[in-house]
Amino acid sequence: MAELVIVDRDGKEHRVEGRVGVSVMETLRELDYGVAAICGGMCSCATCHVWVDESWTGRLQPRQGDEEELLRELGSFRPASSRLSCQVPFTAELSGLKVSIAPDE
Ligand code: FES
Repeated sequence: MAELVIVDRDGKEHRVEGRVGVSVMETLRELDYGVAAICGGMCSCATCHVWVDESWTGRLQPRQGDEEELLRELGSFRPASSRLSCQVPFTAELSGLKVSIAPDE
């Protein structure tokens, strides 16, 4: 099992099985405390914003231009850890990845 560690907006930590081979967003959108993901992963809504735990940021592919642009428009943007979860593929090697759900904007 590849596990995702998720900190919800109330600061509560959850451990769930992550869906391997699709984006992290696909797991988060199915949770009551997850993300809205309104655009369905098209990198155009930013409602899948998460903060990646700093111990994991170096193990992810870097942000691409579109993702970077959308994130920088958000008040909750954190340069070191903000990601659009629809742009982060989840793999077995990322088991244990910890993300916090960013505030709704
Ligand atoms: S789901 Fe819309 S930007 Fe990620």
